[in-house]
Amino acid sequence: MRAEAETGKIVSIAPSINGDATTADHMLDPELLRRNLVVGFESTDSEDVHPFSVLRSQLLKHVRATGSRVFAIMSVQPGNGKTHVAVNLAAALSRIHPTVLVELDLRRPSLGQALGLSPIRPGIDDTLAETATLQEFGMRIDGTKLTVHRVRTSKANPEALLSSDKLTELTNAIRNSDDQPICIIDTPPAVIHDDIMLIAPAVDGIIMVVQEARTSKRALVNTIKSLSPTPVIGTVLNRSISSPLQTAEYEYYYNTMSEPGSS
Ligand SMILES: Nc1ncnc2c1ncn2[C@@H]1O[C@H](COP(=O)(O)OP(=O)(O)OP(=O)(O)O)[C@@H](O)[C@H]1O
Ligand SMILES: [Mg+2]
Repeated sequence: MRAEAETGKIVSIAPSINGDATTADHMLDPELLRRNLVVGFESTDSEDVHPFSVLRSQLLKHVRATGSRVFAIMSVQPGNGKTHVAVNLAAALSRIHPTVLVELDLRRPSLGQALGLSPIRPGIDDTLAETATLQEFGMRIDGTKLTVHRVRTSKANPEALLSSDKLTELTNAIRNSDDQPICIIDTPPAVIHDDIMLIAPAVDGIIMVVQEARTSKRALVNTIKSLSPTPVIGTVLNRSISSPLQTAEYEYYYNTMSEPGSS
């Protein structure tokens, strides 16, 4: 991992929502987590865990400086690593701070599978549809300060759910929670639908995941502009192919974001 001064502000962060009000703790399977490249819960400083510890530190610094606590992980294209970054950052955060991880990729949810969570319990989709409360759908993760709000059932047309006042109510509930959790929101890719335009107004800041040789600068700049006035507080360069190190798959670059269009 290395830092570069070329592009942007911080670079990555994690989520959580009101763990105390949720029901029984959920146990996670360490082997399944490893298979799914979820390493952020681990307390080692190995090459694959270290980037998330650094991202966590940067995010906490941002939180302390701004008071912001609700962040969305976004990317231009599908498959750039949003979910990978969101889960691992949330996991790393949850080892030291109350954290809420929220899945808002309602079309193609993957969080429940990545963490091995029950497919039956109500999810954030039920809450947005007002058939379950925030307290009912939160899954508190045993041994951590993490609460997960995954999508239970995929939705072909989630625009109505995402544009309802319920999403704003939800993020406000997180902001007003007594334990002052940090919330990390996993989102769908920008290029497919305009779901992230509906999500952006409800969050305090955005962390953009970019993938070397895949994400074009023009598309990135246009996406950042379209999300305004919600600020992009940082970028993560995931799966670098030009790293000088051998561990290129886990290279993350965090910088201070430049103004959209300035480079
Ligand atoms: N740094 C990494 N090292 C190894 N594998 C990775 C890395 N980042 C992502 N992957 C893998 O690449 C695939 C796509 O990643 P992920 O699902 O996080 O992307 P995404 O941006 O959330 O995709 P989508 O837009 O479809 O939701 C997954 O199989 C994930 O495990
Ligand atoms: Mg994803």
